[in-house]
Amino acid sequence: MLDKESLNILREALEKLDAGFAALPEFHSRIPGAEHIAQTLAATAERLQDNYPYFHPLYAGQMLKPPHPVARLAYALAQWINPNNHALDGGRATSAMEKEAVAAIAEMFGWREHLGHLCGGGTMANLEALWVAGQLAPGKKILASDQAHYTHGRISGVLQFPFASVPCDSLGRMDLAKLSELVAPGHVGTVVATMGTTATGSVDPLAGILELREKHGFRVHADAAYGGYFGLAGNLAEEARREFDRLHLADSIVIDPHKHGLQPYGCGCVVFRDLGVGRLYKHDSPYTYFSSSDLHLGEISLECSRPGAAAAALWATQKLLPLEKGGEFARGLEDGRKAALDLHQRLEKDARFLTAFPPELDIVVFAPRAESVSEASNRSRKIFEAAARRNLHLAVAELPVAFFDANLGGMRRDRKSLTCLRSVLMKPEHKEWVGRIWEILSEATVECLGR
Ligand SMILES: Cc1ncc(COP(=O)(O)O)c(C=O)c1O
Repeated sequence: MLDKESLNILREALEKLDAGFAALPEFHSRIPGAEHIAQTLAATAERLQDNYPYFHPLYAGQMLKPPHPVARLAYALAQWINPNNHALDGGRATSAMEKEAVAAIAEMFGWREHLGHLCGGGTMANLEALWVAGQLAPGKKILASDQAHYTHGRISGVLQFPFASVPCDSLGRMDLAKLSELVAPGHVGTVVATMGTTATGSVDPLAGILELREKHGFRVHADAAYGGYFGLAGNLAEEARREFDRLHLADSIVIDPHKHGLQPYGCGCVVFRDLGVGRLYKHDSPYTYFSSSDLHLGEISLECSRPGAAAAALWATQKLLPLEKGGEFARGLEDGRKAALDLHQRLEKDARFLTAFPPELDIVVFAPRAESVSEASNRSRKIFEAAARRNLHLAVAELPVAFFDANLGGMRRDRKSLTCLRSVLMKPEHKEWVGRIWEILSEATVECLGR
């Protein structure tokens, strides 16, 4: 985990940053002695040891990806300034970096023009997109699939917008026939298309949703918090490719640089296709917006104070790894997907396991076979724990039995949902580590099932 070279790079960059303020009279801040700081930091490090090893390829559980070293360093560097991207007064340089970084994201979606900004994460970004959607169609319903992130139902509650779930098909994608029935009466203002669901990485049928939009005139919001960068990957299956190729037709898109964009937490992003929605944010601030007639990011975002460091980190990462098809960043996504396909194939070939559908992105869900769904659920939990004892960290998910229907064989369906194992293979290194992951999973399974 420790990368001593990074510390040298940071020191050099800090000296360069410091040189920019050389004209100021010298002053010494009133901080406690270095010895106390060192002791406190050692105590902090000790507390932080109580974590799963998210940075290691054997952490293959939840949607957690280590930031790129350049993102960590740029974030740390910017902390010496601690800019606030609410207004230009608080973060002039990092506001400009944020505008450039977000423009590059919008361009990745095929938008030359856009309105957008960074925010705390996917929840805040979706809140903002739904808040805009609700103002444009007051009183109308918001729809999202029953596999969409729970945040959509909750945000609709916070905003007091009517909300309904659309059932999914057996591949975890929004069922278009059901959507068509729900939008027919005309009370729907917005449909949320999830471009990579949190549980299984399923991609909603955006092309079909857009066709329904033509007929019914609702707004389409794409929640691509997790999956948004996969449009750059060259190894998607045909169906997922078709949906990602339509993403530019959505009205708004949310993407989380702190998921697949190699950023530390606290970095979500919302972009709107129509610049005109900026009018909905209109407010006056008697104290912030006087330093420049240029746009202050606080004028187009709901959050006020925000870390400029997040913008510096994203800007630096995108400078090193541009958001290009065929580039190094895209290869990282492709490698995670290869790892997921590899693990899925190994599981499919092994009679001890039950798989759902092939991964559309980089999430694999599976369970041990048993006589009944409830017994398979118990076994999933046991394997999860046995794997963790061997330092392989998977996740557990509760999914509809229908997702596994095609492969259930004679298993008794005594429950509607199956507790299964879930692995998000989102680190590029997972491609080389699948063999080791498989060995450990196999050993843990032998311990639990005796074979
Ligand atoms: C599809 C999707 N939307 C929204 C969210 C919420 O994002 P955040 O946890 O950054 O608030 C997540 C989180 O996993 C997600 O996968």
